Amino acid sequence: MFETWEELENSIVDCNKCKLYKGRQNIVFGTGNKNADLMLIGEGPGADEDRLGEPFVGRAGKIMNLAFQTIGLKREEVYIANIVKCRPPNNRNPEQDEADSCMNYLRNQVILVKPKIIILLGSVALKNILGQEYGITSSRGKWIEKKGIKYMPTWHPAALLRDETKKIDFIKDLKLVMEEYKKESSD
Ligand code: URA
Repeated sequence: MFETWEELENSIVDCNKCKLYKGRQNIVFGTGNKNADLMLIGEGPGADEDRLGEPFVGRAGKIMNLAFQTIGLKREEVYIANIVKCRPPNNRNPEQDEADSCMNYLRNQVILVKPKIIILLGSVALKNILGQEYGITSSRGKWIEKKGIKYMPTWHPAALLRDETKKIDFIKDLKLVMEEYKKESSD
């Protein structure tokens, strides 16, 4: 584990720990407030993220930004990262060996940010962070606390694009997060 962002960021520059490095234009490391109380973890970069090197800047990111506006959260306040830092081909889910190879980077990001709350966006984030036994449909909207961090699983924003009804759940889950976030930030 690295104790500074600089060391951690330098360590990933030439990463070839898994096959995803072959197709990447940019490593999508993470973005936002490195001292955030609230962190979000997605799945992996899509085409726009790969092109721009920043998470959630494509269609899924736009819908997430709108949800942030609705609940009064500023994107710059939070830290956003993904399970895998390089784009899986054709936006497929990351394979287990890819997620596993990338996990130490994410662990190190969490250690450095020290968030109080983590939103897990979708099944890939949920299963890789909390365990394969968790299912997104039954876990979303419920707090799960582990090692002093409060986790809130919710739908992946891309799922809202496929199924409008999930928007209601998503906003509901984010509102629960906002209540807790306000409490935590005033401590
Ligand atoms: N989907 C994700 O899971 N992460 C991104 O950064 C973009 C889309």
